[in-house]
Amino acid sequence: MRINRIGDALGAEVTDIDLRERLDSGIVAKINNAFTDHIVLVFRNQKFASPDEFISAAENLGEPMPPVTMTYRLPGYEVVEELKNNSMDKRTGNPIDQRGGSWHTDHSNLERPPKATTLFAISLPSSGGGNTEFTNMYLAFESLPGDIKHEIAGRRSFQAYESRRAPRKLLTRSEEEIEGSSGVWQPIVRKHPESGKPALYINPMRSDAIEGMEEREGDELLDILYRHFDNPDFQYSHEWRPGDMLIWDNRCALHQATPPVNPQELRYMHRIMLKGDLPIMADP
Ligand SMILES: [Fe+2]
Repeated sequence: MRINRIGDALGAEVTDIDLRERLDSGIVAKINNAFTDHIVLVFRNQKFASPDEFISAAENLGEPMPPVTMTYRLPGYEVVEELKNNSMDKRTGNPIDQRGGSWHTDHSNLERPPKATTLFAISLPSSGGGNTEFTNMYLAFESLPGDIKHEIAGRRSFQAYESRRAPRKLLTRSEEEIEGSSGVWQPIVRKHPESGKPALYINPMRSDAIEGMEEREGDELLDILYRHFDNPDFQYSHEWRPGDMLIWDNRCALHQATPPVNPQELRYMHRIMLKGDLPIMADP
């Protein structure tokens, strides 16, 4: 197995490993350490013949969890979702905005958001595009001006299913799904349980209020944080190759999907999320 850094700010590729094979505990530990260090890992040339093989591969990095909505579940599977660029909202009949098409971290509105998400490319658009982009939120936090760091220290933000300020519309949910995730207060500066480092934990899709602030004041602070993290120096843009299995750490990275060059071409992936813990507030 070889691990090479591929992004300046985050991201490494892992080659010479076949995740269909049973891995010894030393290799699994190396993979998990690399995940903590690089935030995004790309396993090249994976040859999963079935979703079950993708599930076993993902289990090397954590425990798969069922998706929040039933809509995209791969028929016959509890924990695998389908990701297509030309989906429809089955409840309203309207086309869905590019799924994941703006900066976010997955399901920060859950009490225990998934620690990681993994994608396996099944079909990629031949004309290119459809990159997945990432932001290193350790760097975003570190580089904040001192007064802003001071302002967010020890504070929480409210994570709604869909913020009133969200840049795109999310899927309509059933009553049952709404009850399962009505929103929760989360630390704005989150201590990563493995690295021990503080990361900025905000989500333009879901951050709806700041603890102890009026709406306008909270919105202004969120806007400052959004302008700050959206910086090419903190980013890696992943250009997909066939056989790529990608995994990222939702605790210290934001991500977004970009559309294929030709939107008529299919970009089709399988997705598995891995269970996470209660987010920990970083020491002020
Ligand atoms: Fe996502």
